[in-house]
Amino acid sequence: MKILVTGGAGYIGSHTQVELLQAGHEVVCLDNFSNSSPKVQERVERLAGKKVPFYRADVRDRAALEQVFREHRFDCVIHFAGLKAVGESVTKPWEYYENNVGGTLTLTDVMRRSGCKSIIFSSSATVYGDPSEIPITEDCPKGRCTNPYGWTKWMQEEILRDLHEADVKNGDADPWRVVLLRYFNPIGAHPSGLLGEAPNGIPNNLMPYITQVAVGKLEKLHVFGNDYDTPDGTGVRDYIHVMDLARGHAAALQAIQAGGVEVFNLGTGRGYSVLEIVAAFEAASGVKIPYVIDPRRAGDIAVCYADPGKAERVLGWHAEKSIEDMCRDSWNWQRNNPNGYRD
Ligand code: NAD
Ligand code: UFG
Repeated sequence: MKILVTGGAGYIGSHTQVELLQAGHEVVCLDNFSNSSPKVQERVERLAGKKVPFYRADVRDRAALEQVFREHRFDCVIHFAGLKAVGESVTKPWEYYENNVGGTLTLTDVMRRSGCKSIIFSSSATVYGDPSEIPITEDCPKGRCTNPYGWTKWMQEEILRDLHEADVKNGDADPWRVVLLRYFNPIGAHPSGLLGEAPNGIPNNLMPYITQVAVGKLEKLHVFGNDYDTPDGTGVRDYIHVMDLARGHAAALQAIQAGGVEVFNLGTGRGYSVLEIVAAFEAASGVKIPYVIDPRRAGDIAVCYADPGKAERVLGWHAEKSIEDMCRDSWNWQRNNPNGYRD
């Protein structure tokens, strides 16, 4: 298939591009580099052994998108482009709604005018809010999000669903085909050490914070709360290797052909606590991670892990990599690229 990957220079998009190219798909990438580097694309091409047409453009830029869609006929768009920092979304809500929701509105309008109505969207377990059941199935109701970032994901899902439903009601012979992928906690990196997560400034997420402590850029980990109702009192999450996630997108290309609106959790189905992750990282890297216990972080929930059974049943996909693989590859990336893509 010929696929437009928006936000393809980012953490998950870059790994997915490699996976798609290796599976024989034709990829065109678009990114505005607001949270990534041009170096990523060189490394994607090196790993895949192929050139990839690239547009430095913004998904809110209608004219730029129209040009891309004039120059290519796509079977599907995989839409990663968006802002993703939970804390920043609280201080800059307008920027988050405008970029994420506005970007999706412009993109889908240009798509429908050019006759491409198939989209795979990067959603998040955050749409479940404080989940009403664990493990979380796709039928678990969407919850109240605790930050603007979460609401943008919630709204983008609704927009895509409504586009499909309106087409069906209007008797459109070829209604929008939508796959909503709800990622749990992506960590890890390409095993080559050439691609990985490169956050700007001090990381918000657990694994990049740990790897920066390990490499000596940060002094110690702050564990946010040890009084949750979990075995060791620290928060439990479903960490998934970014390579497994990338494969999940390739698998979702089958579901898009079946039509309709489909939702899939992409997780492993197993939760690890913060202290279990620290121990697993220490074992994989041989580096001690000093930590202190701090108060709970506002908006955090105690436990979040997926029931990934639907993706297995429908897509034949399941996560294959272990927590050891995730820690080893995160460490390999950080050690070889202490400053991310800047050096
Ligand atoms: P990322 O920031 O590494 O990648 C996003 C990419 O989109 C970046 O390269 C950025 O430059 C680009 N971008 C942002 N706004 C753009 C715009 N208006 N036009 C063009 N390009 C734009 O993030 P990621 O971790 O790879 O996440 C990818 C997607 O998955 C995001 O939509 C994110 O919200 C979602 N997601 C991420 C996580 C996670 O923990 N990493 C979890 C759930 C969902
Ligand atoms: N944590 C710490 N110290 C840190 C960072 C995190 O103790 O420095 C803890 C958190 O309290 C939580 C766990 O580690 O218990 C994981 O936290 P992350 O910030 O890595 O991840 P979250 O589960 O909070 O959120 C992530 C993404 C969201 C996404 C969500 C579900 O940041 O965008 O996963 O997919 F919505």
